[in-house]
Amino acid sequence: MTNDINIRPAKDPDRDTIWEIFHEVIAAGDTYPIDPEMCREDAFAYWFQTGARAFVAERDGHIVGIYTLHSNQAGGGAHVANAAFMVPAVARGQGIGRAMGEHCLREARRLGFRAMQFNFVVSTNESAVKLWQNLGMKIVATLPGAFRHPEKGYVDVYVMFRSL
Ligand SMILES: CC(C)(COP(=O)(O)OP(=O)(O)OC[C@H]1O[C@@H](n2cnc3c(N)ncnc32)[C@H](O)[C@@H]1OP(=O)(O)O)[C@@H](O)C(=O)NCCC(=O)NCCS
Repeated sequence: MTNDINIRPAKDPDRDTIWEIFHEVIAAGDTYPIDPEMCREDAFAYWFQTGARAFVAERDGHIVGIYTLHSNQAGGGAHVANAAFMVPAVARGQGIGRAMGEHCLREARRLGFRAMQFNFVVSTNESAVKLWQNLGMKIVATLPGAFRHPEKGYVDVYVMFRSL
């Protein structure tokens, strides 16, 4: 196994793996405000929403992470980007999230976005909060008790932002 991570646009044949990773992450119910039982069709409607650019991270020919990048709002808010990231539990802590985060910021800049905003970072998601902070994202708001964590109950949520 090499440590080389290749990030490329998602293609149709990737869809089964994208669904597997998406389903694993949302079924855990501890990081995204998404119905843990969301079906594949709705998941794809979310992941490949109009204007979204979806990417996969590959290592040794296997998909080990996925992310999607799109504008956070329409019209006058369309110059701010938003993104979602997922790495399967078995592949976490190996730099895949960081590689995708760096790639995403580069890609957002290349597309002309002026800022990146994450609307809903669950405060108990320590690796995500730390990773986004290391990539220059700042906590600009705390939403008290905005997420019902399956084990920890009502926990705070951060809005994170950085200029590009
Ligand atoms: C968040 C997520 C994308 C990070 O991906 P990853 O591949 O595990 O991340 P990395 O291995 O690149 O590690 C990222 C950082 O987190 C830190 N980290 C890893 N595990 C950690 C832990 N348990 N506690 C605190 N920090 C941790 C690492 O030190 C690393 O920081 P560094 O790059 O500055 O050294 C991944 O955990 C995931 O998909 N989680 C479920 C879905 C999710 O939470 N998505 C983000 C929603 S905002």
